[in-house]
Amino acid sequence: MRIFVPRDAAARSVGADEVAERIATAVEASGRDIEIVRNGSRGMLWLEPLVEVETREGRVGYGPVAPEDVDGLVAGGLLDGGGTAQPDGSAEIGGGAAQPDSSTALRAGASADAGLGSGASGGAGVGPGAYLGLVEELPWMKRQQRLTFSRVGVIDPRSGDDHAEHQGNKGLRAALALTPAEVVEEVVASGLRGRGGAGFPTGIKWRTVLGAESDLKFVCCNADEGDSGTFADRMLIEGDPFTLIEGMTIAAYAVGATEGYVYLRSEYPDAVEALNAAIQTARERGWLGSNILGSDLTFDLHVRVGAGAYICGEETSMLESLEGKRGMVRAKPPIPALEGLFGRPTVVNNVLSLATIPTILANGAKTYAAYGMGRSLGTNVFQLGGNVARGGIVETAFGITLGELVNDLGGGTASKRPVRAVQVGGPLGAYLPVEQFDLPMDYESFAAAGAMVGHGGIVVFDETVDMSAMARFAFEFCAEESCGKCTPCRVGAVRGVETIDRIRRGEDRKKNLVLLDDLCDLMTDGSLCAMGGLTPLPVRSAVRHFGEDFTS
Ligand code: NAI
Ligand code: SF4
Repeated sequence: MRIFVPRDAAARSVGADEVAERIATAVEASGRDIEIVRNGSRGMLWLEPLVEVETREGRVGYGPVAPEDVDGLVAGGLLDGGGTAQPDGSAEIGGGAAQPDSSTALRAGASADAGLGSGASGGAGVGPGAYLGLVEELPWMKRQQRLTFSRVGVIDPRSGDDHAEHQGNKGLRAALALTPAEVVEEVVASGLRGRGGAGFPTGIKWRTVLGAESDLKFVCCNADEGDSGTFADRMLIEGDPFTLIEGMTIAAYAVGATEGYVYLRSEYPDAVEALNAAIQTARERGWLGSNILGSDLTFDLHVRVGAGAYICGEETSMLESLEGKRGMVRAKPPIPALEGLFGRPTVVNNVLSLATIPTILANGAKTYAAYGMGRSLGTNVFQLGGNVARGGIVETAFGITLGELVNDLGGGTASKRPVRAVQVGGPLGAYLPVEQFDLPMDYESFAAAGAMVGHGGIVVFDETVDMSAMARFAFEFCAEESCGKCTPCRVGAVRGVETIDRIRRGEDRKKNLVLLDDLCDLMTDGSLCAMGGLTPLPVRSAVRHFGEDFTS
């Protein structure tokens, strides 16, 4: 039997290590043959630490489990195959026999709404460590279509065997049976667009690199996930690093690269450890290095850790940093696809883009493209954060509405006050009011609404938010993180803070709002990169949708 306790950083931050230790002590005392697996997180962060027990019917969950709940859960039958052990030691079903159907979940106090209703905010009144029933059947999980995240939370991220047993390298094997050009066209046909935020078609980018003449090419993974309210890259790397390695290896084969780098932010030490361990295992198993899977493909991978600058998430700045220089933005053209790392043709893709490649190759472009809408095909990994009752990861087809994500899955605010605004797409994304909750999550609908999906982060604010303060923060953030290379961004951000301060103090508001608009135009048109170019997005959306906060 196996018991799963996540080693994901979010779960660890709320006591998962201690929970795992206490369960291990109980297992040892019982003399039973039980393996404790440290899996990734399922993404239901309000239920962490989420303990899962393997039963004949599937994995049943308990959460959130505090270290002090463990003794009671064990007394209630946790080590006997789950049961409906309660933290007070009473077992809902005698003998610990698992009855992980929805009726059991109901009797255990976790309503059929368990995956949605039992939040930190109280939800359906489920206590700590409560029995949740079959994890895969929880409404939060059932509402999703997990393709990129299919193995996250399921497998042991440190186990090559687990990867292999869960269709690991199926995508790579399928790719190796095709020519590089065929692999590129498969990615084009899938409709996959860059998940880092810009949404550029991944296959088209690869086609450019494949067509570039060079004896040396690189694949670089941008894992400098700097957007506030985003954590999908981190959870993927911590929960399923082999999939990222497989995706990068397929990219290398497709474009003719031999070396790869993952640029990982220093704020993610657990991800650094998980990825380095997986790379080591992959090398030992012949999944990296020479003659990969018996083919003549040679590709190796290295992790480089950033030093905490937001701008190093901009691709050219990241390349400068990888080359050992200060992270300054390069002018484009030339695009990295033609002149990237050390001046060589380079694929630069986000973690999620690369980690989606294996499922596309394994199951076919058509299967992937069947999800989504319009020109936004496939699934996206949305991240719910901020003042939200149920924060976490939701992977679903493009087209789900903003309101479904925030209200149905997120459960509204954690403070229980009405939602007033959400910011979608990180600190450079627009603020949207509840009146726009019908907006489908797809690149085009968001662009038409003056917003962007970005990297899929959604940060929720309740009615107490002061939107002029949020607009000021956008400029402040830009002033802090600007690389300083161009004037509209370096100076404009500082002038923006000053202008908003004058508006907030009530000084000649009309004139200063016109000045603010003018400054936003200048930054949009004159900035070298998205840092300065997109800062006006949150500012303008705050003024447009929440104008009352700038006039009183
Ligand atoms: P961009 O539109 O300039 O480029 C998108 C990608 O397409 C780049 O990799 C570029 O090199 C490539 N590309 C463009 N034309 C090409 C061609 N003809 N052939 C091959 N490749 C081509 O956007 P940029 O500046 O790279 O990204 C801006 C976005 O980054 C923003 O929209 C924002 O959402 C996102 N962002 C994400 C963050 C995160 O934490 N994930 C942080 C900050 C911003
Ligand atoms: Fe640097 Fe800002 Fe100019 Fe980008 S817009 S190059 S971050 S100064």
